[in-house]
Amino acid sequence: MVSNTSSSYGALARFFHWSIALLIITDIGLGLIGDAIERNAETAGFLQTLYSTHKTIGIAVLLLAVLRVIWALTQPKPVPLHPERKAETFVAEVVHWALYGAIFVMPLSGWVMHSAETGFAPIWWPFGQDLPFVPKSESVAHIAGSIHGLSAIVIYLTVGAHIAGALKHAIIDRDDTLARMTKGKVAGSQASSGSHLAPMVPAAILWAAIIAVPILTQPAHEHGSTTIAVETASDANWQVESGTLTFTVAQMGAPVTGQFGAWTASILYDDTGSGEVEVIIDTTSLTLGTVTDQAKGAEFFDTSSYTTAVFAAEIEQIEGASHRASGTLTLVGQTVPVVLDFTLDRDGDAASMTGTASLDRRDFGMGSGYTDESTVGFGVMVDVALTVTRTR
Ligand code: HEM
Ligand code: HEM
Repeated sequence: MVSNTSSSYGALARFFHWSIALLIITDIGLGLIGDAIERNAETAGFLQTLYSTHKTIGIAVLLLAVLRVIWALTQPKPVPLHPERKAETFVAEVVHWALYGAIFVMPLSGWVMHSAETGFAPIWWPFGQDLPFVPKSESVAHIAGSIHGLSAIVIYLTVGAHIAGALKHAIIDRDDTLARMTKGKVAGSQASSGSHLAPMVPAAILWAAIIAVPILTQPAHEHGSTTIAVETASDANWQVESGTLTFTVAQMGAPVTGQFGAWTASILYDDTGSGEVEVIIDTTSLTLGTVTDQAKGAEFFDTSSYTTAVFAAEIEQIEGASHRASGTLTLVGQTVPVVLDFTLDRDGDAASMTGTASLDRRDFGMGSGYTDESTVGFGVMVDVALTVTRTR
């Protein structure tokens, strides 16, 4: 029978139970394997496939969970087989409610984390990657990641207890609890009391806490958003008021933008349309979505050995607002010629400048283990935007 009765699980309830159980257990395994593997050039491709599988299975769980609940709401709930064992029945039902919570909180927290961060492994489906109303934000991704990690602990414990309970019924009690869920066997007294909602309360409190704690304990600041820009050269005649220094690189085929939070610029530029600029970048202030640590690591910016990068260039006016700074960028000990084309919009002693330069990471020997572009692109686009005022 497709439908439940008060003493049996129908085919559809059993289908939902076992399909979700299989997918959840697979996803726990993939999540744990992914967590145990170090992220580096050799593992990047494998990890991308692993996490895309993990995410796609997780979304499938979410869709099945929605259908399962809609179906369950229309169905009678089979009565407990041992209603006289009040504590045991209560605990089993708390665990069932906690598992119901998990099949929503796990995939949703994963999906919010995925939507808030840029790059990395895509969900394999054609309906878009991001949830509406979730901003691209490191702190949102961090909160969702904490909820996902805490939920994982809940799920290990509840699935463990649930399976242990099912085995206890099959092996020790030798009753029909498992057979009701596997074969749809009819068992249980029609007279015993049906479901009540009291066991839902502890499960709801548990999930509310799992969601609330990471939100309430998250530090308020957004990491890496500060810009420090001061003039350094004694003859510099433009003071940087504000600015951003970002770069974009394709990661797993999708553009990911990072930024440097701390750098200093010294600009000398006069009305003849020529001048010079020196930018000293604190590479340890780098942030790059979810892969900041890898970007700072030995294979890329190697910030433990090279804490600064220096761009030094001559400025020439091409035509009107259009300018070019030609010089060198010294990064990870390599000095490479770089051209930065920019526009300078002047309004008296104030000016705004926006420019871009394209680099090739291989020129600096960065990411040499990533020999093709499928994980990390070769081209890096640097974007600079400044507002400056003339000091003398
Ligand atoms: C059935 C649903 C899901 C289950 C049971 C599950 C379980 C797990 C587990 C056990 C881990 C490792 C835990 C840890 O690192 O502390 C993990 C990590 C992860 N999961 Fe899920 N997950 C699910 C759905 C999703 C979905 C739908 C997404 C994204 C769309 C997702 C994205 C991730 C990511 C990105 C990580 C790595 C987190 C990190 O290393 O910071 N998960 N998941
Ligand atoms: C090998 C793994 C599993 C076994 C042997 C198993 C066994 C069972 C059994 C025997 C029942 C019936 C309990 C009763 O009638 O009182 C049941 C119910 C249930 N199981 Fe599992 N289960 C497993 C995995 C899971 C997983 C991973 C979930 C996670 C969502 C889950 C969620 C539930 C829920 C929510 C119920 C309550 C019935 C319902 O409302 O659908 N089970 N399970």
